Amino acid sequence: MEPLLDASRMQNLDRYMIEVVGIPGAVLMETAGRGVVARLLERYGALMGTGRILVLCGTGNNGGDGFVIARVLMNMGFDVTTALVGDSERVKGDARVHFDALMNSGGDILALTKGLSSECPCGDCALIVDALFGTGLAREVEGLHAKCIDEVNDTPVPVVSVDMPSGVSSDTGQVMGRAVSADMTVTFAHFKKGHFLYPGRALSGEVFIVDIGILPGLFVKEEPDLFLLEPADLEGAFLRGEDSHKGHFGHVAVIAGSTGKMGAAHLAAAAVLKAGAGLVTAVYPGGCAAQVNFPPEVMTLPIGDELRWSAEMIGKLKPLLPNVDAVVVGPGLGLDEETGEFLEELLALDEFPPAVFDADALTLFAGGGKFLIENIDNAVFTPHPGEAARLLKSTGDSVQNARETALHELTGNLPGAVILKGASTLIGIKGEPSIIIGRGNPGMATAGSGDLLAGIVGALLSRGNPPFHAASAGALIHGIAGDIAAGLSGVEGMTASDILGSIPKAFLEVEGLNIPGEVD
Ligand SMILES: NC(=O)c1ccc[n+]([C@@H]2O[C@H](COP(=O)([O-])OP(=O)(O)OC[C@H]3O[C@@H](n4cnc5c(N)ncnc54)[C@H](OP(=O)(O)O)[C@@H]3O)[C@@H](O)[C@H]2O)c1
Repeated sequence: MEPLLDASRMQNLDRYMIEVVGIPGAVLMETAGRGVVARLLERYGALMGTGRILVLCGTGNNGGDGFVIARVLMNMGFDVTTALVGDSERVKGDARVHFDALMNSGGDILALTKGLSSECPCGDCALIVDALFGTGLAREVEGLHAKCIDEVNDTPVPVVSVDMPSGVSSDTGQVMGRAVSADMTVTFAHFKKGHFLYPGRALSGEVFIVDIGILPGLFVKEEPDLFLLEPADLEGAFLRGEDSHKGHFGHVAVIAGSTGKMGAAHLAAAAVLKAGAGLVTAVYPGGCAAQVNFPPEVMTLPIGDELRWSAEMIGKLKPLLPNVDAVVVGPGLGLDEETGEFLEELLALDEFPPAVFDADALTLFAGGGKFLIENIDNAVFTPHPGEAARLLKSTGDSVQNARETALHELTGNLPGAVILKGASTLIGIKGEPSIIIGRGNPGMATAGSGDLLAGIVGALLSRGNPPFHAASAGALIHGIAGDIAAGLSGVEGMTASDILGSIPKAFLEVEGLNIPGEVD
């Protein structure tokens, strides 16, 4: 898994390389700048000869990388304009070395005082390199810096950011007042958290890592606390032995649905099977039987003849639980008082199987009541930002503005793994580094998408995976299935049923197998 670093962890690595390993900072900076140039040539080589290249520099080390890039490109014969935003007297240390090297090589550095449009129009540029701020962004961007960023964003020219799109926090992905929207970002040694946390993920464009000689596997003072889970990390995780039978892959009870919301139960139960569980039983209020047509593979346990849940239904459900390997509780459950009482009774049962708590179950937990969730081992909680806000007595905006913090608060309060859904899904469990999912797309913000995730995670729990593994792998499979569905149907019109149909292909992708009918 790729570690994602914050500014402080990255600064510790840089310092160690300079002070302990003994590579001068100016040498690291030269390597970094040359690495960016190599990427520029690879991606924009043909375009770069067609016009000016503007390298926009700040006064810190990010600007220092910019001076290297400008000098190397100039020496290659490209038409380069270097512009500095900020007082040149503030350029110090390694950045000063490369400021001077650029000047001594015959380069010129234009110190902007009014803005790009009046002093250095970039409409005729072929490419803009953004080296204003990297990991050293320390406060809200305003004044001349903000004006230049706006002007860069208004120019229809490809923009490549050095390390971070200027204005995006490398720690949170949040925009500090203003931020460059980059087509590509070239970063050093490791991804930064802000490349994968929104809105940073959207503003970074495609992100590439350049090796600047930092020792492989070196982390100083603090180990990484966030990792990117990728398909290759799951390779081999879902192998089925030749002599398998369905009992090897678990039996999941999906306790879901109520009048008008039986589709949630249908999707969750179908996802359980698509994610490889051996058996699934859908448990629902019997009065809703006419509202649903489960796939033929789904066993059913309609209880009573009411349209919603009540505590008396526990008696009929109880004998099933010792026979299942996992339960999914919550999709379409309903939020009325009787359903809350049903959930209280359910959680009070002895020997509860590994469980996924989703959707209405989470809202009911947040509403108070005597929910003995602390009695449950092996649980996965799957809040979306609104549900997370209810659980934390916070607001959706607060959760979204500090998703990692919200995740840590949730894992501190809930006895199990937490999937904080939304763009850049995060997975955590108390005391362990967290996981981020880099897959998925806006088309997945559609009715029923979360029910599928609950079903997938339920299936992985029933196959014997511990909660954190089931949650992480399930979230990645869900994101990949969403991407495959978007490829087939487009993000506008794709539905949860499209994602459901793509779950088997997502497993093929993580196993490194071709999707039938597709050629490499
Ligand atoms: N040796 C290397 O090759 C090497 C090693 C590590 C990093 N780097 C590069 O250097 C970067 C980190 O360098 P750095 O720590 O010097 O930080 P930086 O990202 O260059 O930013 C710090 C500079 O930006 C200014 N600044 C920060 N926030 C601002 C704001 N909101 N408005 C206006 N000015 C602001 C600071 O001025 P004030 O002083 O006024 O706050 C300072 O001049 C990395 O992202 C990477 O690109 C290179």
